[in-house]
Amino acid sequence: ADSLRDLAARVGLRMGTAVTPFELDNAAYRAITAQQFSSVTPGNEMKWQVVEPTRGTYDWSAGDRLVDFARRNHQLVRGHVLLWHNQLPDWLTSGVADGTISDAQLRALLHKHVTDQVTHYKGRIWQWDVANEFFTDGDASTLNAGDFWVAHLGPGIIADAFRWAHQADPTALLFYNDYNIEGVNAKSDAVYTFVRDLRAHGVPIHGVGLQAHLATQYGFPYQMRQNLQRFADLGLKVAVTEADVRTPVKKDANGQYTDEPLTPQAQAAQESYWAQSLQACLAVRECISYTAWGFGDANSWVPSWFVGEGAALLYDRNLNPKPQYNALRDILTHT
Ligand code: G3I
Repeated sequence: ADSLRDLAARVGLRMGTAVTPFELDNAAYRAITAQQFSSVTPGNEMKWQVVEPTRGTYDWSAGDRLVDFARRNHQLVRGHVLLWHNQLPDWLTSGVADGTISDAQLRALLHKHVTDQVTHYKGRIWQWDVANEFFTDGDASTLNAGDFWVAHLGPGIIADAFRWAHQADPTALLFYNDYNIEGVNAKSDAVYTFVRDLRAHGVPIHGVGLQAHLATQYGFPYQMRQNLQRFADLGLKVAVTEADVRTPVKKDANGQYTDEPLTPQAQAAQESYWAQSLQACLAVRECISYTAWGFGDANSWVPSWFVGEGAALLYDRNLNPKPQYNALRDILTHT
């Protein structure tokens, strides 16, 4: 049977998955990654905390391993992530907290980080998530003034990060990436205005990534296709970057959470959300990749972050494809 990557290739779409190297130690996981996906994203391995655990000493080994895997399997790589408040090295955050790293030094360290990382991977990264999760949630979304980077270096640091990344690798597509911006809502409105202004000021931003961490209990995002299209109409690429669809799950006889949705309706909703989000992407010419945040339920970030929820991915714990996988295949087959 045709794989997701082959079916998607017929319509010019890359199907992606997040991968971490320990997963590549598992032969079955490795085989599915290569067969089903044409793009990979490192789940953690290109985050600052991982690449520079000690100040001045880089460790690119985990990211390199994934990039090499991708090359061998004719996959493109989404680099993730250059500027984010989370998973920063301890030496950086503690140095800022105790005042031994001034804001001017912080700015210089960031410039070096962006330049060195993008240069290290020059020519080998298709899309970079340059800036991630800078907006507040809720009905009056704004750029988060309390964000670590904005608080120390001002909102202009985001544009600077795009300029630095572009200088280091002029061929990489540079993305702004965020969650809860899949549909038309206050947060996606705020992001829309922000990226429109970046474009108007000539900042080298080329795309917007919609994470798409969906949940059955919150409904499917309102007007996702229209939302993707309005970003595309700004002259930007768009991408679904971290898709999963979580749901509350049953407990077993020992009181442990399983990967079984509470109701058949919830299972049906999961299939529908995967299908609808892929359809939204397929309906917009500038939507160039659709990436799941991993594919085996055993390795999902969801159960440890949302206790009592799970079953968020396309394959079960034993790496058998779930109906969600078939839902995506059906959509691709009939496109
Ligand atoms: O590596 C350490 C290990 O040494 C330690 O023993 C262990 C104990 O907790 O933690 C390990 O680090 C964990 C890391 O993943 C690597 O597995 C962190 O605790 C854990 O918090 C971290 O979670 C990651 C999360 O980002 C952190 O922000 C998830 O794996 C990763 O999937 C998730 O990805 C994010 C995207 O980057 C941005 N969008 C949201 C998405 C989901 O949160």
